[in-house]
Amino acid sequence: MEKKILVVSSANMDMVMSIKSVPEAGQTVIDKGSYTYIPGGKGANSAVAISRLGGKCTFLTRLGADANGDALLSLYEREGMDTSYIVRDTDTPTGLATIFVEESGQNRIIVFPGANQKIDFASIDRAIDSGVDALYMQFEINHDAILYSAKVASERNIPIFIDAGPADKTFPYDKLPRLEIFSPNESEAYELVEIRPDSDENCYKACLALSKMVDAKYIVIKLGGRGAYIFDGEKGVTRPTYDIKVVDTTAAGDAFTASLALEYLDSGDIMRACDYANASGSLTVSRKGASSSIPTLYEVEEFLKNQK
Ligand code: RIB
Repeated sequence: MEKKILVVSSANMDMVMSIKSVPEAGQTVIDKGSYTYIPGGKGANSAVAISRLGGKCTFLTRLGADANGDALLSLYEREGMDTSYIVRDTDTPTGLATIFVEESGQNRIIVFPGANQKIDFASIDRAIDSGVDALYMQFEINHDAILYSAKVASERNIPIFIDAGPADKTFPYDKLPRLEIFSPNESEAYELVEIRPDSDENCYKACLALSKMVDAKYIVIKLGGRGAYIFDGEKGVTRPTYDIKVVDTTAAGDAFTASLALEYLDSGDIMRACDYANASGSLTVSRKGASSSIPTLYEVEEFLKNQK
């Protein structure tokens, strides 16, 4: 049966600038690149991934009562998400991210969270009461909303998936209940435990340190072009990813973790889920933008067929 995933997380409008390279402090450069506005936000990107891959997604976020909020909400509706619990805030604007994408495809992101920081407990209660099979979160929203959602979900035995982006050392990780999967990327793992996961040995060490911080069945470190490292509390293994030309890495981590959660909920097989997530993440880096780069179920299935 199709699982229903509740995403309690962020929504941003992304202002994306394609540039040669970021200027030094105090330097002004004229860059003949381009800029554009693309719907993003770590939570929204994951919610889009779940919906495009055929999952049922309820998205709980908070938007401003402004034009960016209107544009984002209409995208979520077009993607077929349940948006019944999204609140429009009349005092605070919709989240905004400024993203610089360099020619190499690497990005730098600054987020102005806006209304994302005001997700309220009553909306969380209503969304969970609607009946969901899993809870999925990241760290771009207010801490109390993350802790409250996790508490309510765990009291009801609803499995919890957390993507660790963006790394937040101030979050009280010890207050989280047991998670199904906790997934940082390389730089987030480094920020959280000060071990760079640049070899199998260091991935293992980083996961051991992370497992003392967060109680999770699996820790999955996203390693970019090297794939992902899966740690089950005792041992770990690197699952390589696919060869692909990198155009823009924005949202690849969001698509990866959402695809991992979706496939894991379906099959219960973490290795299979990781291969699937690697495919989804690979397709995402091969295109520009956040939500605009996230693949459909058909695209991921065709991609995987062509790898055999
Ligand atoms: O992970 C990429 C996302 O991070 C962007 O879409 C931006 O909005 C920030 O939340």
